[in-house]
Amino acid sequence: MPGMAVIGSQWGDEGKGRIVDLLSSRIDMVVRFQGGDNAGHTVVKEGKQFKLHLIPSGILYPGVICVIGNGVVLNPEVLIEELDSLEAEGVSANNLKISSNAHMIMPYHIVMDRAAEHRLGKSKIGTTHKGIGPAYSEKALRTGIRVQDLQDMKIFKTKLEESLKINNAIIEKIYGLEPLDPDEIFEKYSKYAKRIDRYITDTTFLISRALEEGKKVLFEGAQGTMLDIDHGTYPYVTSSSTTAGGICTGAGIGPSRIDEIIGVVKAYTTRVGSGPFPTEEIGRIGDYLREKGNEYGTTTGRPRRCGWLDMVILKYSITINTLDTIALTKLDVLSGLKKIKVCTGYKYKGKIYNDMPGHQSILHKCTPVYEELKCWDDDITGVKNFEDLPHEAQDYVKYIEDTIKIPVSMISVGAERNKIIIKDDVLENRLFDNGRRSTLIV
Ligand code: GDP
Ligand code: IMO
Ligand code: MG
Repeated sequence: MPGMAVIGSQWGDEGKGRIVDLLSSRIDMVVRFQGGDNAGHTVVKEGKQFKLHLIPSGILYPGVICVIGNGVVLNPEVLIEELDSLEAEGVSANNLKISSNAHMIMPYHIVMDRAAEHRLGKSKIGTTHKGIGPAYSEKALRTGIRVQDLQDMKIFKTKLEESLKINNAIIEKIYGLEPLDPDEIFEKYSKYAKRIDRYITDTTFLISRALEEGKKVLFEGAQGTMLDIDHGTYPYVTSSSTTAGGICTGAGIGPSRIDEIIGVVKAYTTRVGSGPFPTEEIGRIGDYLREKGNEYGTTTGRPRRCGWLDMVILKYSITINTLDTIALTKLDVLSGLKKIKVCTGYKYKGKIYNDMPGHQSILHKCTPVYEELKCWDDDITGVKNFEDLPHEAQDYVKYIEDTIKIPVSMISVGAERNKIIIKDDVLENRLFDNGRRSTLIV
Protein backbone atom coordinates (compact mmCIF):
# COMPACT_ATOMS: atom_id res chain seq x y z
CA MET A 1 0.00 0.00 0.00
CA PRO A 2 2.52 2.60 -1.05
CA GLY A 3 0.60 5.83 -1.82
CA MET A 4 -0.99 7.63 1.13
CA ALA A 5 -2.11 11.14 1.91
CA VAL A 6 -2.54 13.44 4.89
CA ILE A 7 -5.27 16.03 4.30
CA GLY A 8 -6.62 18.85 6.46
CA SER A 9 -10.33 18.26 7.20
CA GLN A 10 -11.31 21.66 8.54
CA TRP A 11 -9.93 25.17 7.91
CA GLY A 12 -6.23 24.30 8.18
CA ASP A 13 -3.85 24.07 11.15
CA GLU A 14 -5.27 20.72 12.20
CA GLY A 15 -1.78 19.38 12.97
CA LYS A 16 -0.91 17.96 9.55
CA GLY A 17 2.81 18.64 10.05
CA ARG A 18 3.03 16.64 13.27
CA ILE A 19 1.16 13.69 11.70
CA VAL A 20 3.36 13.73 8.57
CA ASP A 21 6.44 13.87 10.80
CA LEU A 22 5.18 10.89 12.79
CA LEU A 23 4.53 8.80 9.69
CA SER A 24 7.80 9.83 8.08
CA SER A 25 9.76 7.38 10.20
CA ARG A 26 8.25 4.71 7.94
CA ILE A 27 8.01 6.59 4.66
CA ASP A 28 10.42 6.88 1.71
CA MET A 29 9.13 10.09 0.14
CA VAL A 30 6.99 13.05 1.27
CA VAL A 31 5.41 15.28 -1.39
CA ARG A 32 3.84 18.72 -1.06
CA PHE A 33 1.41 19.09 -3.97
CA GLN A 34 -0.31 22.48 -3.55
CA GLY A 35 -0.23 25.77 -1.68
CA GLY A 36 2.87 27.75 -0.90
CA ASP A 37 4.37 29.44 2.12
CA ASN A 38 0.89 30.37 3.33
CA ALA A 39 1.19 26.97 5.03
CA GLY A 40 2.81 26.70 8.43
CA HIS A 41 3.39 23.14 9.59
CA THR A 42 4.79 22.71 13.08
CA VAL A 43 6.86 19.74 14.14
CA VAL A 44 8.19 19.42 17.67
CA LYS A 45 11.18 17.14 18.04
CA GLU A 46 12.96 16.73 21.37
CA GLY A 47 11.52 20.02 22.63
CA LYS A 48 12.66 21.92 19.55
CA GLN A 49 9.97 23.49 17.38
CA PHE A 50 10.34 23.50 13.58
CA LYS A 51 7.97 25.67 11.53
CA LEU A 52 7.90 24.47 7.94
CA HIS A 53 6.27 26.56 5.24
CA LEU A 54 7.46 25.04 1.96
CA ILE A 55 9.69 22.10 2.71
CA PRO A 56 7.76 18.87 3.40
CA SER A 57 7.49 17.82 7.05
CA GLY A 58 9.47 14.63 6.36
CA ILE A 59 12.69 16.66 6.24
CA LEU A 60 13.68 15.82 9.82
CA TYR A 61 14.33 12.21 8.77
CA PRO A 62 17.63 12.05 6.85
CA GLY A 63 16.58 9.17 4.55
CA VAL A 64 13.30 10.67 3.36
CA ILE A 65 13.14 12.24 -0.11
CA CYS A 66 11.19 15.51 0.18
CA VAL A 67 9.47 16.79 -2.93
CA ILE A 68 7.97 20.19 -3.71
CA GLY A 69 5.58 19.21 -6.47
CA ASN A 70 4.44 21.05 -9.58
CA GLY A 71 1.20 22.19 -7.92
CA VAL A 72 3.01 24.29 -5.33
CA VAL A 73 3.63 28.02 -5.80
CA LEU A 74 7.14 28.65 -4.61
CA ASN A 75 8.68 31.84 -3.27
CA PRO A 76 12.42 31.17 -3.69
CA GLU A 77 13.35 33.78 -1.09
CA VAL A 78 11.27 31.98 1.55
CA LEU A 79 12.64 28.62 0.47
CA ILE A 80 16.23 29.83 0.91
CA GLU A 81 15.41 31.25 4.36
CA GLU A 82 13.91 27.89 5.31
CA LEU A 83 16.94 26.00 3.98
CA ASP A 84 19.24 28.30 5.98
CA SER A 85 17.29 27.90 9.20
CA LEU A 86 17.19 24.11 8.85
CA GLU A 87 20.92 24.07 8.15
CA ALA A 88 21.52 26.17 11.28
CA GLU A 89 19.69 23.45 13.25
CA GLY A 90 21.85 20.75 11.70
CA VAL A 91 19.08 19.44 9.42
CA SER A 92 20.28 18.47 5.97
CA ALA A 93 18.14 19.30 2.93
CA ASN A 94 20.23 17.18 0.58
CA ASN A 95 17.17 15.06 -0.21
CA LEU A 96 15.03 18.00 -1.33
CA LYS A 97 13.66 17.93 -4.90
CA ILE A 98 11.79 20.81 -6.50
CA SER A 99 9.57 20.38 -9.54
CA SER A 100 10.76 22.35 -12.54
CA ASN A 101 7.07 22.91 -13.38
CA ALA A 102 6.16 24.61 -10.10
CA HIS A 103 5.21 28.26 -10.52
CA MET A 104 7.03 30.99 -8.66
CA ILE A 105 5.69 33.67 -6.40
CA MET A 106 7.11 36.98 -7.60
CA PRO A 107 7.47 40.21 -5.57
CA TYR A 108 4.58 41.82 -7.48
CA HIS A 109 2.27 38.97 -6.44
CA ILE A 110 2.88 39.88 -2.81
CA VAL A 111 2.29 43.60 -3.48
CA MET A 112 -0.96 42.77 -5.28
CA ASP A 113 -2.15 40.36 -2.60
CA ARG A 114 -1.77 43.07 0.06
CA ALA A 115 -3.26 45.79 -2.15
CA ALA A 116 -6.29 43.67 -3.11
CA GLU A 117 -6.98 42.92 0.55
CA HIS A 118 -6.61 46.58 1.49
CA ARG A 119 -9.03 47.53 -1.25
CA LEU A 120 -11.63 45.03 -0.02
CA GLY A 121 -11.56 46.66 3.42
CA LYS A 122 -14.12 45.03 5.72
CA SER A 123 -14.86 42.37 3.09
CA LYS A 124 -11.25 41.19 2.94
CA ILE A 125 -10.46 37.47 2.76
CA GLY A 126 -7.82 37.74 5.46
CA THR A 127 -5.08 36.20 3.32
CA THR A 128 -1.60 35.51 4.59
CA HIS A 129 -0.23 38.25 2.24
CA LYS A 130 2.16 35.70 0.72
CA GLY A 131 1.08 36.35 -2.87
CA ILE A 132 -0.74 33.03 -3.23
CA GLY A 133 -3.87 34.24 -5.08
CA PRO A 134 -2.02 36.42 -7.63
CA ALA A 135 0.55 33.65 -8.30
CA TYR A 136 -2.13 31.02 -9.00
CA SER A 137 -4.05 33.61 -11.07
CA GLU A 138 -1.04 34.14 -13.31
CA LYS A 139 -0.60 30.37 -13.63
CA ALA A 140 -4.19 30.13 -14.89
CA LEU A 141 -3.68 33.15 -17.14
CA ARG A 142 -0.62 31.40 -18.61
CA THR A 143 1.63 34.35 -17.84
CA GLY A 144 3.29 32.76 -14.81
CA ILE A 145 7.00 32.15 -14.38
CA ARG A 146 8.05 28.60 -13.52
CA VAL A 147 10.96 27.26 -11.51
CA GLN A 148 12.51 25.89 -14.72
CA ASP A 149 12.77 29.45 -16.04
CA LEU A 150 15.49 29.99 -13.42
CA GLN A 151 17.60 27.58 -15.49
CA ASP A 152 17.55 29.89 -18.50
CA MET A 153 17.77 33.46 -17.29
CA LYS A 154 17.20 34.77 -20.84
CA ILE A 155 13.75 33.21 -20.87
CA PHE A 156 13.23 34.36 -17.29
CA LYS A 157 14.01 37.96 -18.28
CA THR A 158 11.61 37.97 -21.22
CA LYS A 159 8.80 36.48 -19.12
CA LEU A 160 9.48 38.85 -16.24
CA GLU A 161 9.33 41.89 -18.51
CA GLU A 162 6.09 40.72 -20.14
CA SER A 163 4.46 39.91 -16.82
CA LEU A 164 5.57 43.16 -15.22
CA LYS A 165 4.11 45.27 -18.03
CA ILE A 166 0.62 44.13 -17.02
CA ASN A 167 1.20 43.80 -13.30
CA ASN A 168 2.91 47.18 -12.93
CA ALA A 169 0.02 48.78 -14.78
CA ILE A 170 -2.40 47.25 -12.27
CA ILE A 171 -0.16 48.19 -9.34
CA GLU A 172 0.06 51.82 -10.51
CA LYS A 173 -3.30 52.49 -12.09
CA ILE A 174 -5.66 50.38 -9.98
CA TYR A 175 -3.91 50.39 -6.64
CA GLY A 176 -2.04 53.71 -6.94
CA LEU A 177 1.25 52.19 -5.79
CA GLU A 178 4.83 52.47 -7.02
CA PRO A 179 5.72 50.14 -9.92
CA LEU A 180 8.37 47.48 -9.35
CA ASP A 181 11.78 47.60 -11.01
CA PRO A 182 12.40 44.62 -13.35
CA ASP A 183 16.20 44.91 -13.03
CA GLU A 184 16.05 44.65 -9.26
CA ILE A 185 13.85 41.54 -9.47
CA PHE A 186 16.08 40.04 -12.15
CA GLU A 187 19.17 40.53 -10.00
CA LYS A 188 17.51 38.95 -6.93
CA TYR A 189 16.15 35.95 -8.84
CA SER A 190 19.52 35.39 -10.55
CA LYS A 191 21.01 34.87 -7.10
CA TYR A 192 18.15 32.56 -6.07
CA ALA A 193 18.68 30.58 -9.29
CA LYS A 194 22.27 29.79 -8.35
CA ARG A 195 21.30 28.71 -4.86
CA ILE A 196 18.39 26.41 -5.71
CA ASP A 197 19.50 25.02 -9.07
CA ARG A 198 20.78 21.77 -7.53
CA TYR A 199 17.33 20.89 -6.18
CA ILE A 200 15.38 21.41 -9.44
CA THR A 201 14.32 18.25 -11.27
CA ASP A 202 11.48 16.42 -13.00
CA THR A 203 9.60 15.33 -9.91
CA THR A 204 6.73 13.66 -11.81
CA PHE A 205 8.96 10.79 -12.93
CA LEU A 206 10.68 10.69 -9.58
CA ILE A 207 7.33 10.16 -7.81
CA SER A 208 5.92 7.62 -10.27
CA ARG A 209 9.17 5.65 -10.27
CA ALA A 210 9.13 5.52 -6.47
CA LEU A 211 5.53 4.26 -6.52
CA GLU A 212 6.32 1.67 -9.19
CA GLU A 213 9.20 0.39 -7.09
CA GLY A 214 6.81 -0.11 -4.15
CA LYS A 215 8.28 2.73 -2.11
CA LYS A 216 6.01 4.44 0.42
CA VAL A 217 5.06 7.90 -0.77
CA LEU A 218 3.15 10.29 1.49
CA PHE A 219 1.33 13.30 0.02
CA GLU A 220 1.27 16.16 2.53
CA GLY A 221 -1.72 18.44 2.16
CA ALA A 222 -1.59 22.09 3.11
CA GLN A 223 -4.51 24.21 4.33
CA GLY A 224 -7.77 22.29 4.72
CA THR A 225 -10.89 21.08 2.93
CA MET A 226 -12.95 24.16 3.81
CA LEU A 227 -10.25 26.37 2.24
CA ASP A 228 -10.34 24.49 -1.08
CA ILE A 229 -10.87 26.76 -4.11
CA ASP A 230 -13.77 24.58 -5.36
CA HIS A 231 -15.17 22.91 -2.27
CA GLY A 232 -14.49 25.46 0.46
CA THR A 233 -16.31 28.56 1.68
CA TYR A 234 -15.61 30.59 -1.48
CA PRO A 235 -14.43 33.36 -1.71
CA TYR A 236 -13.03 32.88 1.81
CA VAL A 237 -10.67 30.17 0.63
CA THR A 238 -7.13 29.81 -0.62
CA SER A 239 -6.39 29.57 -4.35
CA SER A 240 -5.46 25.90 -4.68
CA SER A 241 -7.06 22.45 -4.53
CA THR A 242 -6.39 21.52 -0.92
CA THR A 243 -8.46 18.35 -1.08
CA ALA A 244 -7.35 14.86 -2.11
CA GLY A 245 -8.22 15.58 -5.75
CA GLY A 246 -5.40 18.13 -5.82
CA ILE A 247 -2.83 15.38 -5.36
CA CYS A 248 -3.26 14.06 -8.90
CA THR A 249 -2.64 17.33 -10.72
CA GLY A 250 -0.31 18.77 -8.11
CA ALA A 251 2.05 15.80 -8.12
CA GLY A 252 1.38 14.16 -11.49
CA ILE A 253 -0.16 10.82 -10.54
CA GLY A 254 -3.46 9.05 -11.26
CA PRO A 255 -6.11 8.61 -8.53
CA SER A 256 -5.61 4.84 -8.29
CA ARG A 257 -2.12 5.48 -6.92
CA ILE A 258 -3.53 6.82 -3.65
CA ASP A 259 -4.35 3.90 -1.42
CA GLU A 260 -5.08 5.52 1.92
CA ILE A 261 -6.24 9.01 2.77
CA ILE A 262 -5.89 10.20 6.35
CA GLY A 263 -7.96 13.22 7.35
CA VAL A 264 -6.45 15.29 10.13
CA VAL A 265 -9.17 16.60 12.46
CA LYS A 266 -8.61 18.92 15.38
CA ALA A 267 -10.74 17.90 18.40
CA TYR A 268 -12.37 21.34 18.09
CA THR A 269 -12.39 23.82 15.18
CA THR A 270 -10.22 26.81 14.32
CA ARG A 271 -10.10 29.22 11.42
CA VAL A 272 -7.76 32.14 10.57
CA GLY A 273 -9.00 34.87 8.29
CA SER A 274 -12.54 35.83 7.35
CA GLY A 275 -15.54 33.75 6.31
CA PRO A 276 -18.37 31.74 7.81
CA PHE A 277 -17.66 29.56 10.86
CA PRO A 278 -20.96 28.27 12.31
CA THR A 279 -19.52 26.81 15.54
CA GLU A 280 -17.30 29.79 16.38
CA GLU A 281 -17.25 30.65 20.08
CA ILE A 282 -16.67 34.30 20.78
CA GLY A 283 -16.01 34.74 24.49
CA ARG A 284 -14.95 32.48 27.32
CA ILE A 285 -14.85 29.12 25.49
CA GLY A 286 -13.18 30.57 22.40
CA ASP A 287 -10.56 32.31 24.55
CA TYR A 288 -9.98 29.14 26.58
CA LEU A 289 -9.36 27.04 23.45
CA ARG A 290 -7.11 29.72 21.93
CA GLU A 291 -4.94 30.07 25.03
CA LYS A 292 -4.79 26.39 26.00
CA GLY A 293 -4.31 25.26 22.39
CA ASN A 294 -1.90 28.11 21.63
CA GLU A 295 -4.04 28.93 18.63
CA TYR A 296 -1.96 31.62 16.99
CA GLY A 297 -1.05 31.38 13.29
CA THR A 298 2.19 29.56 12.49
CA THR A 299 2.72 31.77 9.44
CA THR A 300 1.25 35.12 10.43
CA GLY A 301 0.96 34.96 14.24
CA ARG A 302 -2.70 36.01 14.00
CA PRO A 303 -5.04 34.74 16.74
CA ARG A 304 -7.11 31.87 15.36
CA ARG A 305 -10.88 31.95 15.68
CA CYS A 306 -11.93 28.96 17.82
CA GLY A 307 -15.09 26.90 18.29
CA TRP A 308 -16.60 23.44 18.72
CA LEU A 309 -16.15 20.40 16.50
CA ASP A 310 -18.54 20.48 13.55
CA MET A 311 -19.76 17.09 12.30
CA VAL A 312 -21.43 18.62 9.24
CA ILE A 313 -18.01 19.79 8.08
CA LEU A 314 -16.36 16.52 9.04
CA LYS A 315 -18.89 14.44 7.08
CA TYR A 316 -18.50 16.79 4.11
CA SER A 317 -14.72 16.42 4.29
CA ILE A 318 -15.02 12.63 4.33
CA THR A 319 -17.13 12.81 1.17
CA ILE A 320 -14.97 15.30 -0.72
CA ASN A 321 -11.70 13.52 0.10
CA THR A 322 -12.93 9.93 0.44
CA LEU A 323 -11.16 9.79 3.79
CA ASP A 324 -10.26 6.31 5.02
CA THR A 325 -9.25 7.14 8.57
CA ILE A 326 -8.99 10.10 10.90
CA ALA A 327 -6.04 11.42 12.88
CA LEU A 328 -7.62 13.30 15.77
CA THR A 329 -5.33 16.00 17.18
CA LYS A 330 -5.17 18.23 20.26
CA LEU A 331 -7.55 16.11 22.35
CA ASP A 332 -5.52 17.25 25.39
CA VAL A 333 -6.69 20.83 24.87
CA LEU A 334 -10.27 19.89 25.80
CA SER A 335 -9.27 18.51 29.23
CA GLY A 336 -10.74 20.55 32.07
CA LEU A 337 -13.78 21.90 30.25
CA LYS A 338 -17.15 21.46 32.00
CA LYS A 339 -18.75 19.94 28.90
CA ILE A 340 -18.02 19.48 25.21
CA LYS A 341 -20.41 20.52 22.48
CA VAL A 342 -20.51 18.90 19.05
CA CYS A 343 -22.43 20.43 16.17
CA THR A 344 -24.70 17.91 14.45
CA GLY A 345 -26.61 20.22 12.11
CA TYR A 346 -27.45 23.76 11.09
CA LYS A 347 -30.83 25.36 11.78
CA TYR A 348 -31.98 27.89 9.21
CA LYS A 349 -35.49 29.23 8.68
CA GLY A 350 -37.01 26.38 10.69
CA LYS A 351 -35.22 23.66 8.76
CA ILE A 352 -32.35 21.50 10.06
CA TYR A 353 -29.47 20.74 7.71
CA ASN A 354 -27.46 17.69 8.80
CA ASP A 355 -25.38 17.77 5.62
CA MET A 356 -23.52 20.66 4.03
CA PRO A 357 -26.15 23.03 2.63
CA GLY A 358 -25.98 23.82 -1.07
CA HIS A 359 -26.20 27.56 -0.51
CA GLN A 360 -23.47 29.31 1.41
CA SER A 361 -25.77 31.96 2.93
CA ILE A 362 -27.05 29.19 5.20
CA LEU A 363 -23.55 28.69 6.56
CA HIS A 364 -23.33 32.42 7.29
CA LYS A 365 -26.73 32.74 8.94
CA CYS A 366 -27.54 29.37 10.53
CA THR A 367 -27.71 28.52 14.21
CA PRO A 368 -25.71 25.39 15.04
CA VAL A 369 -27.54 22.45 16.59
CA TYR A 370 -25.46 20.93 19.38
CA GLU A 371 -25.22 17.72 21.28
CA GLU A 372 -23.50 17.89 24.66
CA LEU A 373 -20.97 15.38 25.86
CA LYS A 374 -19.22 15.03 29.19
CA CYS A 375 -15.65 16.24 29.49
CA TRP A 376 -12.79 15.06 31.74
CA ASP A 377 -10.45 16.76 34.16
CA ASP A 378 -7.34 14.62 33.96
CA ASP A 379 -4.23 15.68 32.12
CA ILE A 380 -4.03 13.19 29.23
CA THR A 381 -0.75 14.33 27.68
CA GLY A 382 1.12 11.26 28.96
CA VAL A 383 -1.43 8.67 27.80
CA LYS A 384 -0.11 6.10 25.31
CA ASN A 385 -3.01 3.63 25.04
CA PHE A 386 -6.61 4.34 24.16
CA GLU A 387 -7.87 2.27 27.12
CA ASP A 388 -5.94 4.53 29.51
CA LEU A 389 -7.83 7.67 28.46
CA PRO A 390 -10.57 8.84 30.88
CA HIS A 391 -13.80 7.15 29.81
CA GLU A 392 -15.33 10.52 28.81
CA ALA A 393 -12.44 11.04 26.37
CA GLN A 394 -12.92 7.53 25.00
CA ASP A 395 -16.64 8.29 24.62
CA TYR A 396 -15.83 11.47 22.67
CA VAL A 397 -13.67 9.51 20.21
CA LYS A 398 -16.30 6.74 19.93
CA TYR A 399 -19.00 9.36 19.35
CA ILE A 400 -16.99 10.75 16.45
CA GLU A 401 -16.40 7.28 14.98
CA ASP A 402 -20.07 6.32 15.35
CA THR A 403 -21.18 9.47 13.57
CA ILE A 404 -18.73 9.42 10.68
CA LYS A 405 -18.48 5.62 10.23
CA ILE A 406 -14.73 5.61 9.63
CA PRO A 407 -12.08 4.75 12.22
CA VAL A 408 -9.94 7.14 14.20
CA SER A 409 -6.47 5.70 13.67
CA MET A 410 -4.39 8.14 15.69
CA ILE A 411 -5.07 10.50 18.57
CA SER A 412 -2.53 13.13 19.44
CA VAL A 413 -2.39 14.41 22.99
CA GLY A 414 0.52 16.83 22.75
CA ALA A 415 2.68 18.61 20.21
CA GLU A 416 5.77 16.43 20.79
CA ARG A 417 6.40 13.64 18.32
CA ASN A 418 5.75 10.81 20.80
CA LYS A 419 2.56 12.22 22.35
CA ILE A 420 0.36 10.02 20.24
CA ILE A 421 -2.03 7.13 20.71
CA ILE A 422 -2.04 4.69 17.80
CA LYS A 423 -5.50 3.20 18.08
CA ASP A 424 -6.33 -0.44 17.63
CA ASP A 425 -3.53 -1.01 15.18
CA VAL A 426 -5.79 0.46 12.47
CA LEU A 427 -2.86 2.36 11.15
CA GLU A 428 -0.47 -0.56 11.10
CA ASN A 429 -2.88 -3.02 9.57
CA ARG A 430 -4.13 -0.64 6.92
CA LEU A 431 -1.05 1.34 6.08
CA PHE A 432 1.90 -0.81 6.76
CA ASP A 433 0.44 -4.28 6.49
CA ASN A 434 2.68 -5.84 9.06
CA GLY A 435 0.76 -5.63 12.30
CA ARG A 436 3.74 -4.22 14.18
CA ARG A 437 3.35 -0.78 15.63
CA SER A 438 6.36 -0.31 17.83
CA THR A 439 8.61 0.79 14.99
CA LEU A 440 6.48 3.79 14.11
CA ILE A 441 7.17 5.92 17.14
CA VAL A 442 10.62 7.37 17.43
P1 GDP B 1 -0.74 22.27 10.42
O1 GDP B 1 -0.70 23.54 9.64
O2 GDP B 1 -1.95 21.45 10.12
O3 GDP B 1 0.52 21.46 10.30
O4 GDP B 1 -0.88 22.70 11.96
P2 GDP B 1 -0.06 23.87 12.70
O5 GDP B 1 1.32 23.42 12.92
O6 GDP B 1 -0.25 25.17 12.00
O7 GDP B 1 -0.88 23.99 14.04
C1 GDP B 1 -0.99 22.94 14.95
C2 GDP B 1 -0.41 23.39 16.29
O8 GDP B 1 -0.80 22.50 17.30
C3 GDP B 1 1.10 23.40 16.31
O9 GDP B 1 1.54 24.41 17.19
C4 GDP B 1 1.45 22.02 16.87
O10 GDP B 1 2.72 21.98 17.51
C5 GDP B 1 0.34 21.86 17.88
N1 GDP B 1 -0.09 20.46 18.10
C6 GDP B 1 -0.19 19.45 17.21
N2 GDP B 1 -0.74 18.36 17.78
C7 GDP B 1 -1.00 18.70 19.07
C8 GDP B 1 -1.62 18.01 20.15
O11 GDP B 1 -2.04 16.87 20.07
N3 GDP B 1 -1.74 18.71 21.33
C9 GDP B 1 -1.31 20.00 21.47
N4 GDP B 1 -1.50 20.59 22.64
N5 GDP B 1 -0.73 20.66 20.47
C10 GDP B 1 -0.59 20.04 19.27
P1 IMO C 1 -1.78 25.22 6.92
O1 IMO C 1 -1.17 24.39 5.82
C1 IMO C 1 -4.91 28.02 8.04
C2 IMO C 1 -6.13 30.94 5.01
C3 IMO C 1 -5.85 32.41 5.26
C4 IMO C 1 -7.04 33.02 4.56
C5 IMO C 1 -7.24 32.13 3.35
C6 IMO C 1 -6.60 32.65 2.07
O2 IMO C 1 -0.80 25.68 7.93
O3 IMO C 1 -2.97 24.55 7.49
P2 IMO C 1 -4.07 32.78 1.23
O4 IMO C 1 -2.88 33.48 1.81
O5 IMO C 1 -3.90 31.32 1.08
O6 IMO C 1 -4.56 33.44 -0.02
O7 IMO C 1 -5.26 33.01 2.31
O8 IMO C 1 -6.64 30.88 3.68
N1 IMO C 1 -4.96 30.03 5.07
C7 IMO C 1 -4.73 29.18 6.08
N2 IMO C 1 -5.40 28.99 7.24
N3 IMO C 1 -3.85 27.25 7.74
C8 IMO C 1 -3.19 27.41 6.56
O9 IMO C 1 -2.23 26.57 6.15
C9 IMO C 1 -3.60 28.44 5.70
N4 IMO C 1 -3.16 28.89 4.49
C10 IMO C 1 -4.03 29.86 4.12
O10 IMO C 1 -5.82 32.70 6.63
O11 IMO C 1 -8.19 32.90 5.37
MG1 MG D 1 -0.57 25.57 9.96
